[in-house]
Amino acid sequence: MSLATVTVATEPPYPVRIGPAALEALPNAVASADRVALLADERVLDLHGASLAALGEVPTLAIGGGEDAKTLGKLGAVLEFLAAAGLARSSTLITFGGGTLADLGGLAASLFKRGMQVVHAPTTLLAQVDASVGGKTAINLSAGKNLAGTFHQPAEVLCDTSTLATLPAAERASGLGEVVKTALIGGEADLALLEAQADGLLAGDAAALAATVTSCVTVKARVVACDPTERGPRRGLNLGHTFAHAIEHVAGYGAVPHGVAVAAGIGLALRASAELGLLTDPALEARIRALLERLGLPADLSALRQSSGLALPVDELMAGFAHDKKGAVGRPEFVLVSGAGALELGVTLEVDLLQSLLA
Ligand code: GLY
Repeated sequence: MSLATVTVATEPPYPVRIGPAALEALPNAVASADRVALLADERVLDLHGASLAALGEVPTLAIGGGEDAKTLGKLGAVLEFLAAAGLARSSTLITFGGGTLADLGGLAASLFKRGMQVVHAPTTLLAQVDASVGGKTAINLSAGKNLAGTFHQPAEVLCDTSTLATLPAAERASGLGEVVKTALIGGEADLALLEAQADGLLAGDAAALAATVTSCVTVKARVVACDPTERGPRRGLNLGHTFAHAIEHVAGYGAVPHGVAVAAGIGLALRASAELGLLTDPALEARIRALLERLGLPADLSALRQSSGLALPVDELMAGFAHDKKGAVGRPEFVLVSGAGALELGVTLEVDLLQSLLA
């Protein structure tokens, strides 16, 4: 299967190469760097390190993945590692792992010597379809998720879909939540493609994975190119995320995989959209619920409470919105939906409606 290439038309533009064996393009992606260093998820390095052999010996920092990677302490460790490895602005850091590695490594690269290049080699579905494309970087603070970060576009992204074969089931489910979000944002054709690929995705079919990652990256590249720093339309990519961040805050970071919280958040955003009479196609809510359920994802809070065994109390979720970084202080903002590919941005919801949605 040959590689697909999607160009993110930022200034400068960069390629996202997608398909099995995309990692073979890594030496070429870093060819202009005077030095190269690797920030890797230690588990991914064990499983797939052999795919990096063509790089030769490079300074490597292997750390645990997951939200535990996104701390001030880990950021400091990565910066010290870059300095100890003798890197310059003209060097390149490669991140190899899930979205948390891309978030952490991207942030470190944006800070080190006021900015060096980063190439992402994402190995989870979530990182391939979302986190590694678009230049968002972040760590978490005790007050909330992703509260400290920058925009720092990568020089190249290599989505090697063969690495998805070893994904733990929870990681795959997490990626599928972002896949549904992206297809809904993309519009009818992306949604229909995902519905057609759903069984193949669940079976880990290589062609279905490559087609889905390519379609999601194409949607994301389009949005990022017209709004790289999230002043306008890019805010639509936060569909389901205001709910998801409150859920993750209440559950404790890492207790509910991000994309699983996003799935419940999409269901809640659609319910709110229906309650406010925004849906031009009333069948859309049931259609997305059916797709989420088919992919093994929770379409609402009761399903999430049941599958996670967490209570997720309404008052704690309401308080959790205070940690959202997108809206004004005390006024969380939501992305709602009027149709496939049609969003309403910056919507504030009445407290009564929010409480009934979260019950
Ligand atoms: N994950 C949403 C964005 O990149 O804007």
